[in-house]
Amino acid sequence: MHAAAMVTRPGDVYLRPVIGGAAAPLKPHLEEPMTATTASGRGMFFFRRFLSSPREVGALCPSTRHLGDAMLVDLDLRGDDVIVEYGAGTGSLTRSIRDRLQRQPELRYLGIEREPGFCAILQQRWPELTFAAAQVEDVQRLLAEHGLPRPKAIISGLPLILLPTMEQIVQQAYEVLAPGGSFRTFSYLQSYPLKSARRLRRLMADTFDDYSSSRLVTRNFPPAFVLRGDKQAL
Ligand SMILES: C[S@@+](CC[C@H](N)C(=O)[O-])C[C@H]1O[C@@H](n2cnc3c(N)ncnc32)[C@H](O)[C@@H]1O
Repeated sequence: MHAAAMVTRPGDVYLRPVIGGAAAPLKPHLEEPMTATTASGRGMFFFRRFLSSPREVGALCPSTRHLGDAMLVDLDLRGDDVIVEYGAGTGSLTRSIRDRLQRQPELRYLGIEREPGFCAILQQRWPELTFAAAQVEDVQRLLAEHGLPRPKAIISGLPLILLPTMEQIVQQAYEVLAPGGSFRTFSYLQSYPLKSARRLRRLMADTFDDYSSSRLVTRNFPPAFVLRGDKQAL
């Protein structure tokens, strides 16, 4: 294995340099585990994951808190409503959600992230939250497994326009949401004019009972619009 290769396993919070397999001695300067508990460590891990799976990760670096906060604007959550996060990555949107959970501790949360290395980081950052290392396409099964009812909010960090299952994910989000629920995703400024991004907006407008786009969130790299699809209340 290449000297700079990184490995993580669920529950393993380090990004450990591997040299020639487990039995090989580590060079002294590589012995210190490169921790993913710092923002720069997480950013580096995120970037490496982007290089190995560009379509699935879909971004060079994690979103900012500003985008995370913008994703939650006017989100009407009460009592023990459920929030599901799609594609939590290393937790940049999760941080804004966690702040909301702290203000409303009865709310319930499930994060779904397909990359086990990201899940390990998420679980280490927020041991009190529940994360599933799984595909969002299995959301119905995952909700049932965690004993959760229909979510009131689905906050998605997925690179939807790059995913072959975009239609399925959006349609499923509408079906799974509780009445009055909201699906939020974002679209980067530079990809906004692309055919695939226009297709996503049309799909959301056709699927949800109400569709809107936010003003540009400039304090994100790249700047992004929040797209919002709402399901009618009963
Ligand atoms: C652009 S990153 C967003 C990470 C973070 N939410 C943020 O905004 O910085 C997209 C994330 O979606 C995850 N992902 C992609 N396809 C997925 C799928 N089908 N199910 C679950 N997670 C998926 C990737 O592993 C990646 O962590």
